[in-house]
Amino acid sequence: MTEALQQADSQSKTGETLDPKNWDEMRALGHRMLDDMIDYVANIRDRPVWQPIPENVRARFDAELPRRASELADVYREFSDFIVPYATGNVHPGFMGWVHGGGTPVGMLAEMLAAGLNANLGGRDHIPIEVERQIVEWMRQLFGFPKGASGIFVTGTSMANLMAVLVARTTVLGRSVRQRGLGDDSALLTAYTSKAAHGCISKAMDIAGFGSDALRCIDVDSSHRIVLASLRERIALDRSAGRTPFLVVGSAGTVDIGAIDDLRALSSFCREEGLWFHVDGAFGALGMLAPELAARLAGIELADSIALDFHKWGQVPYDAGFLLVRDGDRHLDTFAAPAAYLRRESRGLAANSPWPCDLGPDLSRGFRALKTWFTLKTYGTERLGAVITRSCALARYLEARILAEPRLELMAPVQLNIVCFRYRADNPDQINGDVVADIQESGIAAPSTTLLAGQLAIRAAIVNHRTDIRDIDALLSAVLEFGARRSPGDLALPQLEHSPPLAM
Ligand SMILES: Cc1ncc(COP(=O)(O)O)c(C=O)c1O
Repeated sequence: MTEALQQADSQSKTGETLDPKNWDEMRALGHRMLDDMIDYVANIRDRPVWQPIPENVRARFDAELPRRASELADVYREFSDFIVPYATGNVHPGFMGWVHGGGTPVGMLAEMLAAGLNANLGGRDHIPIEVERQIVEWMRQLFGFPKGASGIFVTGTSMANLMAVLVARTTVLGRSVRQRGLGDDSALLTAYTSKAAHGCISKAMDIAGFGSDALRCIDVDSSHRIVLASLRERIALDRSAGRTPFLVVGSAGTVDIGAIDDLRALSSFCREEGLWFHVDGAFGALGMLAPELAARLAGIELADSIALDFHKWGQVPYDAGFLLVRDGDRHLDTFAAPAAYLRRESRGLAANSPWPCDLGPDLSRGFRALKTWFTLKTYGTERLGAVITRSCALARYLEARILAEPRLELMAPVQLNIVCFRYRADNPDQINGDVVADIQESGIAAPSTTLLAGQLAIRAAIVNHRTDIRDIDALLSAVLEFGARRSPGDLALPQLEHSPPLAM
């Protein structure tokens, strides 16, 4: 026997796989984990929204690479004691910072099932790919795109926007750009979006090799919608200077205040000018599920591509970004790359071309589609749409309470689910920044901040389906209380009370 054969033989005799020796023990612990996580979500209101990480806990994650095995139960205890209490907080209904979805127990269970299947959705002929295609088809119908449209799950809208920039690039420069790269000509290509657009679009222009200076950020009106006349003017100016405009990115829900550009006007303008029209619909695009919002998205059906996130208003657990492209051939032209080891066949496991790896940069891909499929089927789009409608109603309630409170000032019109306001004070930027950190550290709520016309605003984005009037009231009381404590002339700030860390 050769040494290698001996080794393999002894390995198969000792059963040295990574599977448990005792499946019953594993099953019992697995059931406990499931129970604990269901309790965690069911009782999330009993916890602080977020709490600061003690230094000794942070230090635990600066440990040596574990060379020796540990008991799963011990590792799970570490998770319960040191990870669970210090998570982001977006499962909690009091979380209103940035744009974070709350997730659902259905999505959580689907994630477990997906991990069990351990499917790789880069390609090949298996049903998980059909699940993803089912969602592409549903999105094609939802957004009124023609047959032949294509779509793909990605990490998030930042990635989907980057991919849309690349599809627009390949369309304007031709497929050969993929071999030749961006030559001197492409240095003249310019793209357009509004000053209120998300920063990932500028980053996409940078990563795609155009440079962020090639993105023209056009003025917005008082509601943060792109000013079409300024766009028209800037494009004419660029053309007369020998530039080649190729892409316009409209926003369906801007990150600061939830503004929706006039998508219909943008789409017809892009058609006249021969420009690729992409819509960043990170959270707002799924407003299509809410009948009263769908009308405000009119024109989105005319886009060349749409980026959106199921992990925001769709409540699918992170991450579940998505790109939809009107002309699937342009999409394939941008990313398909044959390789001998990825040879497609007409039968067997290597059939079912084109594969998702032909539609994006990733070859290995997880089964994000499953948690989205479970979410859409279990709740149905009417119920998901009702959640979206309710978060906009809560934003209007918050707006009304701010307008009725002389100590507060509304900083921007409320258009969707985002409310920007501040506590009136002599030094408002400093005070409101402190108030937000105080509230976050108190565990009562988690708003975030943004700058509007150079002034710091407290920003509450109501995305989580669990948020209700109690949470809005708690946020407002906390702003008033911490605002009063922070205002000059008041007594020194009392020690904030932290809720005790709750282990599982
Ligand atoms: C309008 C908009 N675009 C893009 C993004 C980026 O999305 P993601 O965080 O999923 O990459 C966000 C995130 O909040 C957003 O609000």
